[in-house]
Amino acid sequence: MMYQKLKSCVASVREKVSFQPEVALILGSGLGDFADGIEIADTIEYTQIEGFPVSTVKGHKGRFVFGYVGKTPVVVMQGRVHYYEGYQMQDVVLPTRLMGMLGAKKILLTNAAGGVNETYQPGDFMMITDHITTGVPSPLIGPNIEELGTRFPDMSEVYSLRLQEVIRECAAKCGISLKEGVYVQFTGPNYETPAEVRLARSWGGDAVGMSTACEAMAARHMGMEVCGISCITNLAAGLSKQELNHKEVQETADRVAKSFKELVAELVVRM
Ligand code: HPA
Repeated sequence: MMYQKLKSCVASVREKVSFQPEVALILGSGLGDFADGIEIADTIEYTQIEGFPVSTVKGHKGRFVFGYVGKTPVVVMQGRVHYYEGYQMQDVVLPTRLMGMLGAKKILLTNAAGGVNETYQPGDFMMITDHITTGVPSPLIGPNIEELGTRFPDMSEVYSLRLQEVIRECAAKCGISLKEGVYVQFTGPNYETPAEVRLARSWGGDAVGMSTACEAMAARHMGMEVCGISCITNLAAGLSKQELNHKEVQETADRVAKSFKELVAELVVRM
């Protein structure tokens, strides 16, 4: 039973950590070191949590960091779990649910993504206004966890309009020209074909990636307030002559990490 597993993960964290987070944060590719800069109160390795899915991707750390950004108590997921690693979608969103069960009422999701919108450049930040998950199974498939939320949850405002406004204000304050758009989640681990990228665009997508939307759904299901920002690390397949690779994704993420961290720091205290 998934709820039993969740409760035992919570108990396992609570044996070691008493910290009460208000805001949860998931850090994407190349953005993980934001957690090293916060005022750290406690950490726990995923491997210390029994039954917890552990990430296998190079460059993804695997721990929760508890601490303060300004006065705001946060839990940071430093390294996420992806569907393409072979986990069930329910396990992919387990950490998100866990952070919610630890007390976080709001969540900021970040990722590296390919730009589908032809006006985007590598290094741009895109505030996620909505998403499309047609390419991946719903994390809510299976017996509904009544303790968390309803069987047929509304998804008409996954990304909180209130938090979207806060993100705009923070970006303006940081001097960041913010794009806004729709994130399309595919399974990965392969990058998309040019035809798939055209499909995503024809659907109304602005960026493609391999994470985030499933986490947003699980968080909404349990009533958390959600927001998300993509770092556009590359033009999606077919939009440039360049082949796609993880190195380019990481290099771009590293290049803009400083300004991303400023934006996130500003945002977390105002969420
Ligand atoms: N496609 C999917 N996921 C990604 C991409 C991409 O082009 N860039 C970074 N993550």
